[in-house]
Amino acid sequence: MKYKNGLLGHKDIGTYPYPLRRRLVLYILLPMLSFYFLYTLNLLLSSANHRQPCTTSTANHLSFTDDSNPNTKFTQTGLQHIVFGIAASTRLWDKRKEYIKVWWQPNRMRGFVWLDKPIGEFNSTVPLGLPMLRVSSDTSRFLYKHRQGHRSAIRLSRIVAETHRLSLPNVRWYVMGDEDTVFVPDNLVRTLAKFDHRQMYYIGSNSESHLQNIYFSYNMAFGGGGFAISRPLAEALASMQDGCLNRYPVLYGSDDRIHACMAELGVPLTRHPGFHQYDVYGDLLGLLLAHPVAPLISLHHLNVVRPIFPNSSTQAVALKKLFAGPVRLDSASVMQQSICYDNVNQLTVSLSWGFAVQVVRGIMSPREMEMPIRTFLNWYRRADYTAYTFNSRPVARNPCQKPYVYYMSEARFDAAKRTTVTRYDLNNTDRPACQWKMFDPAEMLDHIIVYKKPDPGLWDRSPRRNCCRILATPGGDQSSMHIDVGVCREGEFSQI
Ligand SMILES: *[C@@H]1O[C@H](CO)[C@@H](O)[C@H](O)[C@H]1NC(C)=O
Ligand SMILES: *[C@@H]1O[C@H](CO)[C@@H](O)[C@H](O)[C@H]1NC(C)=O
Ligand SMILES: *[C@@H]1O[C@H](CO)[C@@H](O)[C@H](O)[C@H]1NC(C)=O
Repeated sequence: MKYKNGLLGHKDIGTYPYPLRRRLVLYILLPMLSFYFLYTLNLLLSSANHRQPCTTSTANHLSFTDDSNPNTKFTQTGLQHIVFGIAASTRLWDKRKEYIKVWWQPNRMRGFVWLDKPIGEFNSTVPLGLPMLRVSSDTSRFLYKHRQGHRSAIRLSRIVAETHRLSLPNVRWYVMGDEDTVFVPDNLVRTLAKFDHRQMYYIGSNSESHLQNIYFSYNMAFGGGGFAISRPLAEALASMQDGCLNRYPVLYGSDDRIHACMAELGVPLTRHPGFHQYDVYGDLLGLLLAHPVAPLISLHHLNVVRPIFPNSSTQAVALKKLFAGPVRLDSASVMQQSICYDNVNQLTVSLSWGFAVQVVRGIMSPREMEMPIRTFLNWYRRADYTAYTFNSRPVARNPCQKPYVYYMSEARFDAAKRTTVTRYDLNNTDRPACQWKMFDPAEMLDHIIVYKKPDPGLWDRSPRRNCCRILATPGGDQSSMHIDVGVCREGEFSQI
């Protein structure tokens, strides 16, 4: 949302109401560092808490029992237990619905798009492959006093409560997203299944922008990245939210209104690094080449960045390519990084499975390769590396090390070998002059083929990057590189 959310349109972007003074940096730097320490500690602790009991997911799920009948064991949480609430506006609907079509599966999912007024297709959405449309109830009685925001924030913040009041059967989680949020549903399920849905949970993620997190809150789930609220928490929220809303008329958006009520309820944000608000401009490439070792759950702000695949006419077309191939074949592994080295040609190879491979001349360590390269600008459209909540690195320190990027062009399943086969083609671009007398991928290496067995249980184990191995090519052909990716073997690691 906000200088941020598409619902308010582009005009809002970059008009942050708080003046950005340079001196501010001094005042926030120290608190920022100490916060960082606490934040990391918190992350470590919370991931330890959530992972310990779930090293094998079955053991974890069997421990859930039904409230009404303590002898009934709960089944594992699935897509059927989730209800989506999508925040939308009629103004942007025609364009933004293309993003929903990318991930929505009408026969497997329940959910509603909440609009401000009825539109033409109101009664005919199911055949169109979209969630049911609903009109939010009237919110004119609530106060809204932020000078630059829009009062639709009140309507949108009530979606979870309004959905809960529909009393749908068998709901464990309410998941909120914007109309330009794209979810990877199976990874959302994998993540939520690790939590006991009978407890109160508020799960999501922050902004990539440190200042956005300062202005809103590090304890807030940013709405565009999507967030999940467990049923008991939705119930508690529904019973107090209308009163709560009138206590915070000066807030900007819908997600900070939710956060304010969460703070009253005393339920903290459980951060998960797979939800992506993506408060950045430019190209997501750097972030997607170095995704954290966590399932990819959501993508957002796709309209302000370049299509993820360069040859796509629109972002929705690019995303469909990702979903039709890699997400369908091995959703758990999409955008998972693995790093290996071609010691003969002295190349560093970093794969983001199903998306792209970057090849860098020379040997760069995994600790560098797991840092996103800055192919993007921050939310204030500046190239300022101190603006982010994570480590990042320049595209190249030496012009010779500008990466060669190979984008996924084909994805299929080889039934005989029971493995996925993905192909990546070089995106040949002008590059700075380089005097290094060594293997030049632009001249030699046309494409890369990756073999990987589907691994739906990837996130049932402790998080670890996969290992990749460069295979010998038949006849020593150097125009293609063949890579095998999978669980690291005993003693195997990315040694430089
Ligand atoms: C949708 O259907 C309902 C009930 O059948 C009707 O009252 C309503 O006017 C319809 N809406 C539109 C926008 O056609
Ligand atoms: C993009 O399209 C051009 C022209 O059709 C083609 O030559 C190039 O290989 C494509 N690049 C990728 C990465 O698919
Ligand atoms: C890919 O190719 C296009 C077209 O030549 C170019 O604009 C873009 O910057 C390239 N991307 C990368 C990461 O090299």
